[in-house]
Amino acid sequence: MRMKEKLQHLKLSDAGADMPRRILCSDIPTPCYVIDEGKLRENGKILKEIQDATGCRILLAQKAFSNYDLYPVLGEYLAGTEASGLFEARLGREEMPDKECHVFSAAYVPEQFDELLQYADHIVFNSPNQLRMYGPAAKKAGKQVGLRINPLCQTQEGHEIYDPCAPGGRLGTTKQAWDEQMDEELIGLLDGLHFHTLCEQNSDALEITLRAVEEQFGPVMKQMRWINMGGGHHITRADYDRDLLKKLICHVRDTYDVIVYLEPGEAVALNAGYLCTRVLDFVKNGDVVNAILDMSAACHTPDVLEMPYRPPLYEGFEAGEKPYTYRLGGPTCLSGDIIGDYAFERPLEAGQRLLFEDMAIYTTCKNNTFNGMPLPDIWVVKEDEAICLTDFTYEDFKGRLGTKN
Ligand SMILES: Cc1ncc(COP(=O)(O)O)c(C=O)c1O
Repeated sequence: MRMKEKLQHLKLSDAGADMPRRILCSDIPTPCYVIDEGKLRENGKILKEIQDATGCRILLAQKAFSNYDLYPVLGEYLAGTEASGLFEARLGREEMPDKECHVFSAAYVPEQFDELLQYADHIVFNSPNQLRMYGPAAKKAGKQVGLRINPLCQTQEGHEIYDPCAPGGRLGTTKQAWDEQMDEELIGLLDGLHFHTLCEQNSDALEITLRAVEEQFGPVMKQMRWINMGGGHHITRADYDRDLLKKLICHVRDTYDVIVYLEPGEAVALNAGYLCTRVLDFVKNGDVVNAILDMSAACHTPDVLEMPYRPPLYEGFEAGEKPYTYRLGGPTCLSGDIIGDYAFERPLEAGQRLLFEDMAIYTTCKNNTFNGMPLPDIWVVKEDEAICLTDFTYEDFKGRLGTKN
């Protein structure tokens, strides 16, 4: 019997301690992602309260979090799922079957569209051209049809890669494109408008965006059944202004007589996961002591390099804040496979476990096996139990690279 089969369920000891400590002290093998069901529920309750207070509907953006074993939990709080294409739409339909399934893609693939119609209830198009190509078939199949608009209202600073409103962007129909390309027949296909312009932002940024959207698209919003305000709302973050969000939702609902949708990804699973790793060795180079971990930023937390982003580390501090500072990096060949410089009260030791926090989002759905790095298993913790959801092996690495079996 393989080790993993023996370890499918573990009891978490150290009752009374906080969850990170209990995971750190457990026998869950490293590296692994650990999803915290209790924290997902806390986020879910916040999102449900907003829906109850405003009548809006909140969807899970699966691009951020698609660990479907937890969909029954999220389904208790959310109205459904949002997908970026065929596979996510199918996943949403299969794993949250009684809820709404929405899809937006910058362009749909002709051979996939009929199958997509089997899964999605709402299909959002990126351009008048896509609407013309696929809108009539979607309507005929009884689907709700939407168009993504782009208000060209930049509220983010510093990362154009995440800003659909950056000049020349390809996501969404600008007012100019609307005026040039939309006609009565196309407008007649629409049930709703969609905009997504934010990234990890507070409701003040939504307020600014809404002003721009209303200025440009106000008259047509009155003809719609729903307005989808996308994701990027960091609703479950401690300093998020939820009262303002509610005010804005009610304003849109009442002014235009529409159902308001939100489709956050991050906010659903914010702070609801960990990546548990282990120190393998140390490499000193000048003043820097590198600690080599059994996880990789490039493979297991690609956003750390792409955003870039510094994940919180349990009992880890800013470099220099405590006596022992290390540069934490992965075992791959990529020189820049570095998570960051972190300081500790005591020297690290080979074999010591470390726990990165806020690791449920944009991790398991974005990882890869570069350098032949194994996929970390995915665990879930609830109350005093840890359960392993996966059993990744060499075959999962090999199976993506060529002939199967
Ligand atoms: C169309 C759309 N909806 C929702 C989201 C989810 O955003 P977030 O995870 O930042 O809330 C994204 C993220 O890129 C998106 O592109």
